[in-house]
Amino acid sequence: MEKSFGKTNTAVFISGRGSNLSSLIKYSKTKKSLIRIALVITDNSDAKGLEYAKKSKINNIFIKYSDRESFENRALKLLKKNNIDLICLAGFMKILSRKFITNVYIPILNIHPSLLPKYRGLNTHNRAILNKEKYSGATVHIVNDKLDSGKIILQEKVKILKSDSVNSLKKKVLKIEHKIYPKAIIKLLTNY
Ligand code: GRF
Repeated sequence: MEKSFGKTNTAVFISGRGSNLSSLIKYSKTKKSLIRIALVITDNSDAKGLEYAKKSKINNIFIKYSDRESFENRALKLLKKNNIDLICLAGFMKILSRKFITNVYIPILNIHPSLLPKYRGLNTHNRAILNKEKYSGATVHIVNDKLDSGKIILQEKVKILKSDSVNSLKKKVLKIEHKIYPKAIIKLLTNY
């Protein structure tokens, strides 16, 4: 992997709120951080998360998603131009093609709000509660060409209480997400 100032040049892809982006930016600013966030890409020009990138003066680019191929071609060019060595999907709501995943030649991570392989896709909290699961949690995994299915890097669970609603569970899981995404990056980059 190519490094910049000893840190791995990282791009974060977002579509919305960007709380995971914010936690990754915080981590990237710590002394021991292994990454430098060099680029934020979004398919949504109104993504709230863009504010975090702007505040931290991180190069942030909106690519219109008129079709997957043109979006991915432009993203590939930007990744090359910025010497990106790691992609972190953080609430990025589009599915990347097998061609893109193969052609970037760098790891792509994603964070998902469930204990994968359980509850791939959307509405994870609702489904976990309806199925009377005792635990939910969050998972960071490598992205492959199947939805939420790549190798699991890190996972942490949280108890689902009888009193939990979709919202309260969502909040608890989000807290875990913010904690484990930086940890998963460290694990990936140090092969630990
Ligand atoms: C998170 O719950 C993440 O696990 C899922 O989408 C949500 C994004 O939240 N993939 P945010 O934009 O990072 O706040």
